[in-house]
Amino acid sequence: MHQRLVPILLPDAAVPVTVVGDLRLSFVTLGSGVPGHEVERTFIANPSLPGVVIADQGHLAGLIPREQFLSWMTEPFGPDLYRTRPIRRLLERSGRPPLCVGANDGVADAARAAMARPDDRIYDPLLVTFADGRFAVADMPDLLRAVAGVLQDQMQRIAETLDELRRTQSHLLQSEKMASLGALVAGVAHEVNTPVGIVLGTASHFADLTARFKDQMIQGRMRRSDLDGFVEQAAEAARLLSLNATRAADLIQSFKQVSVDQTSNQRRIFPLGRYIDEVLTSLTPAIRKTQITVAVACAETIECDTYPGALSQILTNLVMNSLNHAFDEGGTGTIRVTAEVEPGDWVRLVYTDNGRGIAEADAPRVFDPFFTTKRGMGGSGLGLHITYNLVHGVLGGEITLTTAPGAGVSFLIRFPRCANDKKR
Ligand SMILES: Nc1ncnc2c1ncn2[C@@H]1O[C@H](COP(=O)(O)OP(=O)(O)OP(=O)(O)O)[C@@H](O)[C@H]1O
Ligand SMILES: [Mg+2]
Repeated sequence: MHQRLVPILLPDAAVPVTVVGDLRLSFVTLGSGVPGHEVERTFIANPSLPGVVIADQGHLAGLIPREQFLSWMTEPFGPDLYRTRPIRRLLERSGRPPLCVGANDGVADAARAAMARPDDRIYDPLLVTFADGRFAVADMPDLLRAVAGVLQDQMQRIAETLDELRRTQSHLLQSEKMASLGALVAGVAHEVNTPVGIVLGTASHFADLTARFKDQMIQGRMRRSDLDGFVEQAAEAARLLSLNATRAADLIQSFKQVSVDQTSNQRRIFPLGRYIDEVLTSLTPAIRKTQITVAVACAETIECDTYPGALSQILTNLVMNSLNHAFDEGGTGTIRVTAEVEPGDWVRLVYTDNGRGIAEADAPRVFDPFFTTKRGMGGSGLGLHITYNLVHGVLGGEITLTTAPGAGVSFLIRFPRCANDKKR
């Protein structure tokens, strides 16, 4: 008979126990020839001992769980029968081979195997085998506690990852905003270039005209027809100068407004149709590179009292998506924007393109953050997520998508003509 009592190992609470070998284990082993009262004495002397390993000349013979042993001893005549007989008899009677797990097995796997046992055996201790041939006993509550620790640790890590993702997302939202402002600035430069070029050309032509006129006057060669010609050309130059200077000023004004709206998120009263035109003008440099035409139908009279910045970002995202996703390179297509006021004073804005549409499996996911079919090709998958948040959060409205492969997209955006800020 040999009895080995090894101090019970307590896991360090700060570090989650992940493998069975790091659980609190007991290494009490008795020979198979010891009588039952020896086992009883061992259990009484070690109240937290879940079970003893029984060995037969160094080889594993079985495991006697505390609960089972005690129930044998409470049977009628149990103590008389079992106290004096060799413990191997009891083992033969039990017919319950223990669940064996390796010391290097993960606690979650061990718990899964343990919980798969028949109901009346779920809480039996486990026999742990070490690579060096040692055996130990693990108690189920300790195993379950370790699994709970691992889960808690994983939850903590998931929470941290989520936090990190949220920070990345808000950073990306910010850079997305900056990118659309960058495109806007490029748009200003491009659009204003034409009228400013005409102003410069006309001014220089007018300077030549005036110089020639002055020469003719000094030399006294001025005829009536020269005078008429000069007046006519001067009037034309003045008309061109005024027209193009006004056009440039208007463009700058509307770009200024769109960019201020995009950055300031201010609420104001604005004519919807003109605003849509202004936003689309800011996108002409991108649209002009394609064969795509844009048609807008919006009653002149609709006046909104809401957040134009949100509206301009929404339209920009939808147009950029049509340009990027809907059509083949160089292919023709049409984007339509219609807006009207519904009964109840809500604006009903419908944005459609007649491009390739969206696959059935993808359509429900397009508003999810980071969903893109252009990963690695410039898509971050935030455009429609931002659009959804702007429609719902800022305009207090709703957006729905109707699409099918080959049938283009149709976004129905509804929002109160006068923003109801209390709802936000
Ligand atoms: N007009 C459209 N036609 C076809 N597919 C579209 C259209 N608009 C969006 N999609 C699909 O929906 C996906 C999600 O669009 P979203 O604007 O959110 O992301 P993205 O355009 O890929 O990237 P990001 O807008 O961040 O640059 C796109 O990757 C594309 O597959
Ligand atoms: Mg996009």
